[in-house]
Amino acid sequence: MNGVQSILDPAGPGGASIALLWWVMFGTGTLVFVLVVLALVMAIRRAGESRRRGPDETDKLTDVNEPDQRIAKRWVSAALGGTVAILLATFTLSLLTSRATAGIAGDDMLEIEVTGVQWWWDVRYLDSIPARNVRIANELHLPAGRPVRLRLISRDVIHSFWAPNLHGKMDIIPGRENTLVLRADQPGTYRAQCAEFCGLQHAKMAMVIVVHTADEFDAWLDAELQPAAEPADELARSGARVFMANACSTCHSIRGTEAYGRVGPDLTHLGRRLTLAAAELPNTRANLGAWITAPQVIKPGSHMPSVSLSNGDLIALVAYLEGLR
Ligand code: CUA
Repeated sequence: MNGVQSILDPAGPGGASIALLWWVMFGTGTLVFVLVVLALVMAIRRAGESRRRGPDETDKLTDVNEPDQRIAKRWVSAALGGTVAILLATFTLSLLTSRATAGIAGDDMLEIEVTGVQWWWDVRYLDSIPARNVRIANELHLPAGRPVRLRLISRDVIHSFWAPNLHGKMDIIPGRENTLVLRADQPGTYRAQCAEFCGLQHAKMAMVIVVHTADEFDAWLDAELQPAAEPADELARSGARVFMANACSTCHSIRGTEAYGRVGPDLTHLGRRLTLAAAELPNTRANLGAWITAPQVIKPGSHMPSVSLSNGDLIALVAYLEGLR
């Protein structure tokens, strides 16, 4: 039941009300199932007994007498009443859960724009001061205890944002903005997954959610606001030249450099990210090299082209990207 992507391990009020609804429905369903099986077993045993008594007795039994009929009627009415009561109760609880999950609010709400793209997540922290807007990808950092308003938009097809520990699903529809207000109370790392089939790599369209304490969050945001780190040594410097000279810089942006591409994820602080390729691979040197060399093997159909690089260029490029901390 514990997990980074589990509705049964809630980390905020939205997740908690959904988990409660789930447990109540699971408990009721189990109870009804057990009662139905018990009734079935009793009916089978009664039928067996009457068959053992012989054909004469059976004939007499099927010719149901008045009191038996009354008992049967009472049982059927009770079962019918119970069914209606259970349906009404779960319906009411569902409505209350919807109200609770939709009612999360606060004064000091953080605004984050989350764009679904085939097959990754573009994340933008919105601030009234434009210079404090920050763009990252495939990671959502949240301050614990503070409500956030996610503005969900799509760049291409229908996606769906789903962070089971925090809230229910919300569809992302091209041409409109859906909002989801959620609050994470439990610092930790969670996982969100696209929950609407959106093409070849739908299953590999995930996102890491990191919930920080308030202070940690401010420090994280301040660090993200910084422009990209300068290459630290000659190898990284030649890696930066490889990045600018090849297709990389036309699709990706690295703040503080000439790379302004908007097609792919922002790479300004790639070295700090936990994963690569939308939570598909841990962010290690080997995986970074593999992802650049063979994106179509790791995520067939993805819009990341295979860039053919010499070994030396690849090593330099990886060194540069790793250094973007
Ligand atoms: Cu995006 Cu499924």
